[in-house]
Amino acid sequence: MQEKIDKIKQEALDRIGKAGSEEELSRLEKKYLGRKGELTQILRGLKDLSGEERKEIGQKANRIKQELDSSLNEARKRISGVSSKEEFTDVTLPGEEIERGHLNPVTLIRNELEDVFTSLGFIVMDGPELESDYYCFEALNIPKYHPARDMQDTFYIDKKNQDGEYDMVMRTHTSPVQIRGMEKYGAPIRMVVPGRAFRNEDIDACHEHTFYQIECLMVDENISIANFRDVVKEMLSGIFKQEVKVRLRPAYFPFVEPGFEVDMSCTICGGQGCPSCKNTGWLEMGGAGMVHPNVLKFGGVDPEEYSGFAFGFGMDRIAMMKFGINDIRVFNGGNLKDLQQF
Ligand code: FA5
Repeated sequence: MQEKIDKIKQEALDRIGKAGSEEELSRLEKKYLGRKGELTQILRGLKDLSGEERKEIGQKANRIKQELDSSLNEARKRISGVSSKEEFTDVTLPGEEIERGHLNPVTLIRNELEDVFTSLGFIVMDGPELESDYYCFEALNIPKYHPARDMQDTFYIDKKNQDGEYDMVMRTHTSPVQIRGMEKYGAPIRMVVPGRAFRNEDIDACHEHTFYQIECLMVDENISIANFRDVVKEMLSGIFKQEVKVRLRPAYFPFVEPGFEVDMSCTICGGQGCPSCKNTGWLEMGGAGMVHPNVLKFGGVDPEEYSGFAFGFGMDRIAMMKFGINDIRVFNGGNLKDLQQF
């Protein structure tokens, strides 16, 4: 029996060593180690041997089985020309897709708006999000304790100034940069301010506590509402690439006179009424008006010589109307399934 096993081993190793193809190796594997293979038969026959012999032959046959297994593995590596199946790299496979970040829909709108306005000769300005009470309200013709302050409930910073008053606020709108722009560049001026604003707000489908506005200010000699109308038309057709239905309503903002609100026909429901437009068919896009003489004075501009218009539109709302997004909370929600569509 011992001799027979040795002979099988020798013959098998010899033939495996000389094998030149995977098919040949499979045949040899079957011949020696398969269900009816020569070595398998010997292992199966162990039960007929006496105790001592069974142990000795069994151990030997198992050792040979392992040798043949590893010899077959080695031969396979040799034939396929690689060191192991795990390390094999198929260079013809397509590469793994690299996940790329992308811009938030509001940023896409912001970029488009900046393009439209720079093409009209406007400069793009920035201003602090943590703003002083002076720029956010006082210089915009909203004195301390004036009831108009109630229009924009906001977040004051828990730090008092020398006079014991809270005077730093998360800006409620981008309008303070109107004053900063006039102080810095004087008149005439054409400027826009895309930026973030904050309010203590009841959140719903069209209101967020943190949202984006684009402020526009144009000051020059003889500026009228006609200039405002043309610039707004240019802005909206630049973004929506089509005629959009807009309406103006008289409105009160202390920093303009006259003032109005600009509504756009809701693109989500086609003007029929839905939660995004509070069932009115119209979505308020922004406030606007002719700059109040006091505001020009606060900015260091002579209201006798210059006039101007200003408006502040919600960029989130523009993005909602452009992309058909029915809830403003999508923008800051962080759900990639929502955001990856744009
Ligand atoms: C203002 O903020 C004025 N500063 C706009 C202005 C500028 C008027 C210059 C005159 C001259 P209002 O509070 O209406 O106005 O906000 C303007 C726009 O910002 C709104 O029409 C809306 O589109 C957007 N907006 C305001 N509050 C929110 C909010 N909580 N969530 C999302 N968008 C908002």
